Formats: sequence, C-alpha cells, structure tokens
Amino acid sequence: MFRYMTFAPLVAAAGLALGAPARAEGTVEVLHWWTSGGEAKAVGELKQSFEAAGGTWIDSPIAGGGGDAAMTALRARVVAGNPPTAVQLKGPGIQEWAELGALADVEGVAAAEGWDGVLPPVLAAIMKSDGRYVAAPVNIHRVDWIWANPEVLARAGIDTMPTTWDEFNAAADKLIAAGITPLAHGGQPWQDATIFENVVLGVGGAEFYRAALVNLDPEALTSPTMVAAFDQLRKMRGYVDANFSGRDWNLATAMVMNGEAAFQIMGDWAKGEFLAAGKVPGKDFVCAPTPGGGFVLNADSFTFFKVSGEDNIAGQQKLASLIMSPEFQKTFNLAKGSIPARTDVPLDEFDDCAKLSHADLLKATEADTLVPSMAHEMAISRSVRGEFLDLVTEFFNSDMSSEDAAQRLADAVKRAM
Ligand code: GAL
Repeated sequence: MFRYMTFAPLVAAAGLALGAPARAEGTVEVLHWWTSGGEAKAVGELKQSFEAAGGTWIDSPIAGGGGDAAMTALRARVVAGNPPTAVQLKGPGIQEWAELGALADVEGVAAAEGWDGVLPPVLAAIMKSDGRYVAAPVNIHRVDWIWANPEVLARAGIDTMPTTWDEFNAAADKLIAAGITPLAHGGQPWQDATIFENVVLGVGGAEFYRAALVNLDPEALTSPTMVAAFDQLRKMRGYVDANFSGRDWNLATAMVMNGEAAFQIMGDWAKGEFLAAGKVPGKDFVCAPTPGGGFVLNADSFTFFKVSGEDNIAGQQKLASLIMSPEFQKTFNLAKGSIPARTDVPLDEFDDCAKLSHADLLKATEADTLVPSMAHEMAISRSVRGEFLDLVTEFFNSDMSSEDAAQRLADAVKRAM
C-alpha cells in the first residue's frame, strides 16, 4: 500500500494551516558538490523544502564533479574542528567517518519513520554504523548508461543503440567516418574511472567486476579479462575529441545535447542536465545500459557530523526526515536523473529511462548482477580507489600497454590495501 505522507509534511501542513507558518527551529550548513545545472536544480529542491519547513539552510557547495574536491574540503573542515552539519557522503566513506566517531546518528528519526521498511536492504546497510542510521539516502543513481543524440546517430546511419562493446566500436567507427566525434568525454580521473568500470562490467561480467574492483583479487586484476578490459578502454581513447582533457562532465553532456558528439558514457546525473536544458527523453536524447546486463549502483546520501547546539541538531533531524519523505524523494529524483531510494514511491511521473533503471535494478538484484560503483565511492576505501583512478587515468593518457596496466594496477592496489 502506498503511503504518501510521513511525519515531516504533516508538521509543515499543520503549521501552515494554523496561520503563521510554524517557525520551527533547525539550521544546517550543507557541504555538497552539486553545482552543475541539473545538480543545482535538484539540491535546490532540498533547500526549498527545508526552508519551507521553517529551517535555515547555509549552502556550502564545493565545485568539482564526482566529489573529490568536496571530500578534500571536508577533511580540512574536520581537522580544523569545524565540521559541517550535513555532508554529501556515501558508501564506505560513511563507515570510515563513523569509525572515527565523527558522525551523529539519526536513528530516532529512522525508527519513528520506519526507514528499514522502505529501503532496499543493500542501501540501508550502507547508511548504518553499528546498526544505527548515520546517513539518509536521497537517490539511486545508475552509472552504467550510454546517452546519445539520435539526430547525430542518424547522420551516420545508426538507428539502434549498441548492446555490446563490439557494436559500440562499430558505431564509433561509422561516426568517425562521417566526421562526427563518437564519444563526448571529460578527461578527469573520476570520469576515466566511470568509463573503466562500465567496460569491466561489460567485458568480464558482474562476478569478475566484484572480484577485481570490490574484492581486489590480484588474480582478477592481472587476468586476461582485465587485459581485455584495458584493450577496450584503449579503443575508446581513440573515440574522444582532441580537447577532452580536463573537461567537466556536464560540458561533455552539452556536447551530446548540441550535436557535437554522439555518445556520452556517464551515470544518470547526465539525464538531469538534459532535463534541466528542457530536452525530451526519447526525442532529444536516448538512454541505453552499457553492455554487461548488470547495474552499477551509486547512491547519494547525506551524513550528519557531530556538532553542538540544539538548533544544529534539530536541523539535522529535520533534514534527515525531509530527505526520506516520499514527496521529496519524488521531486528531487525527477530533477536529479536518478530514482528514489525509497521503494514505495510510484514512478508514474518518471520517464522511460528511470523506469528502465528501476526494472533493471530489480532484475540485477534477482540475478546478483548488482555491483557497487568503484568510481563513485560505493565499493572500496578512498585510498584504494585513488590507486584505481591514478592508474586508469595514466593509462588513458599514455601508450601504456594493457598488460602493463593490469600488472601495475594489481601492484598499486596491493600497496594501498
Ligand atoms: C557522483 C554523484 C552524483 C553526481 C556526480 C557528478 O559521485 O553521486 O550525484 O553529482 O558525482 O558530480
């Protein structure tokens, strides 16, 4: 049975119904990295909802897709003894900070609102430390997507999306022959790693992905399959334009939007850019999973650092409740390009890409082909992830052989573990 209302909107509605809006206290300073068009629109939904419920929102955006700059800023703030009230943080990073005793829990809100009953178990587990919620999930992003401009594809006589890497390569060769840039890409480590992990899934499958990128098995890291994945990544290096280095991810999305390139391989936050620009899914852009038949999970969440002051603590509780309210989960994810973290939010207002994401999430959960994104800090520690990003980016920007890349990756990971 679908439950629209939870505690938070009822309180807000009651406040409004009594005349003067309930000037409930609650202040949060929020550190996040959502600064692109689509991201800013989505986080604006959270800010507006929080202020509408009487809260005071202090915005602390740290530009830089993928969040590495934000995480550096966070560490500096904590070392200075001045942590933000709430931080965009996810995956093992939540556990790392919780183990340092830096996080406040929102277990009271979670228990009162029954979060366990409306979150996928894999997600609920990521949000908890010692069985208590220390984070609230805002969404489920999918990383393994190919975005395309159908009009550009048609110019090269391509009318279907590739379902294998061989088909992708064949389409890219046709696009090159037609004088069109096949792959819009931003040459930044996290973006190189995003393509890399999707290639690993497609070349080796979910079990191999887990062995290599989650369990860090040296056999898998130095296997012929990993060499084949680097071979495919090498081919894709030949499909990007000359000015890819350092490009922000959303400018690569704009290249597809404006017809300057055919494809972008990026998580569905790219869809947030298309939508923010008024583009229509299925008409101005199309989506298709990258080869592999899996689902690369990247869930955004906010954690709550231990801070003093009743007003800050009230703000944390209010923000946690708001994030998990069904209404916010709908409005935020419609803008962000992701799907709700809550399992009880109807998707009838969502587009076909979102509905496919949801359907494939269920299928991947059933088939055990759901994998956590390494590139987006869902799979391994930041230090080991850093070795992956460094090696993959060096490979992408050099003539390193696939065999050397696999061996050097295994050696680097071993050193960092
Ligand atoms: C991811 C984050 C997404 C999106 C992307 C680009 O790590 O989970 O929400 O913001 O970075 O910045």
